[in-house]
Amino acid sequence: MTAREGLALVERDEHGVDTKFREDVLRGLSEPQKALPARWLYDDAGSQLFEDITQLPEYYPTRAEAEILRAQCDKFRHLIGEGRAVVEFGSGSSVKTPLLLGCIAPAAYVPLDISGEFLRAAAEELSAKFPGLPVHPVEADFMRQVQLPAAVADLPKLGFFPGSTIGNMVPRTATDLLRTMRATLGEGSQLLIGMDLVKDPAVLEAAYDDAQGVTGAFNLNLARRINRELGGTIPVDDLRHVARWNDDFARIEMHLQATRDIAFEVSAKRFSMAAGETIHTENSHKFSRRSSYQLLLAGGWTPRERWTDGEGRFSLILADATIPRSAP
Ligand code: AVI
Repeated sequence: MTAREGLALVERDEHGVDTKFREDVLRGLSEPQKALPARWLYDDAGSQLFEDITQLPEYYPTRAEAEILRAQCDKFRHLIGEGRAVVEFGSGSSVKTPLLLGCIAPAAYVPLDISGEFLRAAAEELSAKFPGLPVHPVEADFMRQVQLPAAVADLPKLGFFPGSTIGNMVPRTATDLLRTMRATLGEGSQLLIGMDLVKDPAVLEAAYDDAQGVTGAFNLNLARRINRELGGTIPVDDLRHVARWNDDFARIEMHLQATRDIAFEVSAKRFSMAAGETIHTENSHKFSRRSSYQLLLAGGWTPRERWTDGEGRFSLILADATIPRSAP
């Protein structure tokens, strides 16, 4: 996972303030249910805290997904085959990407990321591990259709989107992204996507509210970031991290909850929160086999094979870009 907002494509005003960040925060804090887009969790401090989260005993997704990649190497080689261009949506993760590339012997690797800095670091790391592999980093927002480098134009493509990052989007946005990925990758492509599974809410709530308080620090860092970058006066000590399972929407929600009545300013605008009121900062949707297949189909992908880890906590799905044909 990377700082999605990156450095390269950020628009700043004359005071160096990220104008989109300010716009999102001022709008989000003015809503009846205060809410902030989760992408703003990932400044440098937030990205580091997320890395720490992936190592926590309670946060199983990273380990479970790596377990599947290790266990199913032969199946990947058989179903995906050699010689594809692997297009990773987001800069490669240091553990998972080499596991996949080591299995399928691709012809090229194309990491896509909005942050040039993260992209270059990931590309260099990968090149060092796979010296003969052509690596073509592309600095782009993968939420929009991306023109892939000419060098991979004629190669069959495999999209790789690990980590269940798709679960951080509401279904409408997730569907749009899947369709955009299909347009980027083209007809005949495949997609290997990680999707976290519905399970005992107690396990999920522990994964998003760990005993060491790292996820709490990750969430509260957003309030600190607002204070730092937007001249905010949010009394961070009067907010607490809350992670709750929303069964209707099959998702874990992160909130920042006021522990007493508070008032503060952001960019010279006044806001208040009553004790108990929350700012909704992240959704992490969890899937069943059925709901994951439905989402993929809505996004133009036909599920072909699905694997889970030994404890059935996490899934990796291989899907094909559906060939348009008449249907009943
Ligand atoms: C990046 N994303 C898949 C993580 C998740 O599990 O939804 C973000 C995260 N938030 C709190 N812990 C981890």
